[in-house]
Amino acid sequence: MSDSNEKPVLVVLSGAGISRESGLKTFRDGDGLWEGHDVMQVATPEAWRADPELVLEFYNQRRRQLDEVEPNAAHRALAALEEVFDVRIVTQNVDDLHERAGSTQVLHLHGELRVVRPEDDPGLVSDEWIKVGGPELPGPDVVLGDTDERGVQLRPHVVWFGEAVPMIEAAAETVAQADVLLVVGTSMQVYPAAGLIHYAPADCRVAMVNPDPESVRGFESVVHDFIVAPASEGVVQWADRLQQERG
Ligand code: OAD
Repeated sequence: MSDSNEKPVLVVLSGAGISRESGLKTFRDGDGLWEGHDVMQVATPEAWRADPELVLEFYNQRRRQLDEVEPNAAHRALAALEEVFDVRIVTQNVDDLHERAGSTQVLHLHGELRVVRPEDDPGLVSDEWIKVGGPELPGPDVVLGDTDERGVQLRPHVVWFGEAVPMIEAAAETVAQADVLLVVGTSMQVYPAAGLIHYAPADCRVAMVNPDPESVRGFESVVHDFIVAPASEGVVQWADRLQQERG
């Protein structure tokens, strides 16, 4: 926090668990599959080369599913905290539920379902990427033959297994500015995302919300407040307490 007139910086690291109660599955639900698919067949550069149609259809399904779900109380509580805090969300999720709840600063570490980019683009953020649902590409489906103006096929703007995470530096810089850090709904098993917690300043208070402490073992030493609850309860409780403390 640089100036006493500025709002304190609250950084949120969120993962699939925060969207669970909206009806979107987490990745490590137990069956080893992601929405019934082996991730290696739908979420790798090899899969894209081998069967782009299948990969596009998988993400088309995920995109259609977004129209059937709504932000839950946890997404909404974080959006409401913007009244008191400078809330910066770093999410591993490719859904748009934080934005739809009203959060204004959301960094998508692993990409966004509603964005596509030319397949020859390395994946850094660009205003020129195409929003699915916009005038260029009404969507929700993206199919083989949907190209940019050069004729290059469009691919999902998601980080696949084996690909670099271009936004990781920006995310680390964000965490390094945190006065308060909340980690919610992530198993912290996937690097480099899981390493972000270590960028928090020494005097930053760190909270974690997760109904299954076993799934996040190994982080006990860096977390001050562990709330064992699903996001819709745990985040709301924690946010209420935080607002009371900050008056
Ligand atoms: P995971 O599926 O690994 O972990 C989900 C976490 O959410 C677990 O710790 C659960 O205990 C917790 N959880 C379940 N229900 C919850 C609820 N109602 N409220 C709060 N927490 C709940 O998901 P991520 O950690 O997000 O990457 O996975 C990280 C990355 O792995 C994903 O972004 C994806 C995947 O590989 C890429 O696609 C690159």
